[in-house]
This record gives sequence, C-alpha cells and structure tokens, in this order.
Amino acid sequence: MKNSVAILLCALIGLASAAEYKLRTAEDLQKVRKECAVANKVTEVLITKYKAFEYPDDEITRNYIKCIFNKFDLFEDTKGFNVDNLVAQLGQGREDKTTLKADVEKCADKNEQKSNVSAWAYRGFKCFLSKNLPLVQAAILKKN
Ligand SMILES: *[C@@H]1O[C@H](CO)[C@@H](O)[C@H](O)[C@H]1NC(C)=O
Repeated sequence: MKNSVAILLCALIGLASAAEYKLRTAEDLQKVRKECAVANKVTEVLITKYKAFEYPDDEITRNYIKCIFNKFDLFEDTKGFNVDNLVAQLGQGREDKTTLKADVEKCADKNEQKSNVSAWAYRGFKCFLSKNLPLVQAAILKKN
C-alpha cells in the first residue's frame, strides 16, 4: 500500500515536470537528427563531418542545427533560445548548475546583430560546443 502511494506520487511529480520540459535522450537526438537531415537534404559528406563533430558554417548545416534545436524546444524562431530548457537539457547529471547557466546565457544571445534565424541558432550551437556542452550525455561517450 505504502509502495503504491509512493509510486503514484512519483508518477505525478514526473508528469508535472514533463509538462514543463521533457528531457531529450540519446534516442530522441538520433531520431531528430534523421528527420532534420532528410528535411534539409544533408549530404553524406556532411553527415560524416557531423559524426566527427565538425559543423561547417554553410546553409545546410545552419538549417540542420536550427531544425534540431527547434524540435528539442531549445530554440524558437521568433523568441530565440530558451535558457531554462537549455539548462535542463545540457545540465543532466550536474549537481551545480550555476556555471552552466552563466555559460548558457553567454551563448544564448539575443541576436543584437539581427542575423537570420539559422545563423543565430548555429552561432549559439557553436558556442555550446566550445564550452563542451553536448545536447545529451551520450554524446560525450560517443566521442571516445
Ligand atoms: C543567413 O545568414 C548567413 C550568414 O550571414 C548568410 O550566409 C546566409 O546566406 C543567410 N541565409 C539566408 C537564407 O538569408
């Protein structure tokens, strides 16, 4: 009886936080990568580069990155980056999110220079990469 109450509570708490932001997994990333690659006609050559963590500054790559960030609810074309969601997504498994939040805020600029949306999303993404912030933890493991 006690157990079932505990399970119910956990389920409710889980639902409450899921309604705010659903943490994406390595599988989610895999799926979204595929969708965005198809949608943006990403070439095999580019795919090979992405696997080596190379993201050249070209139209296809910028749109591909924006596509992933859109689908992960981390970037909206009209509002830009969602800092809270980014901190949640990039900070999985971190005890202290203070430095992370500061890094995210630095990278998630407000587009003062008025670039187009894909250039904006791409700029933020490159900044996250430079700070060693993978979208999912599994991305770290895949590097080795
Ligand atoms: C977006 O901005 C980039 C970088 O300034 C530029 O190279 C690209 O042509 C622009 N794309 C569109 C669709 O205007």
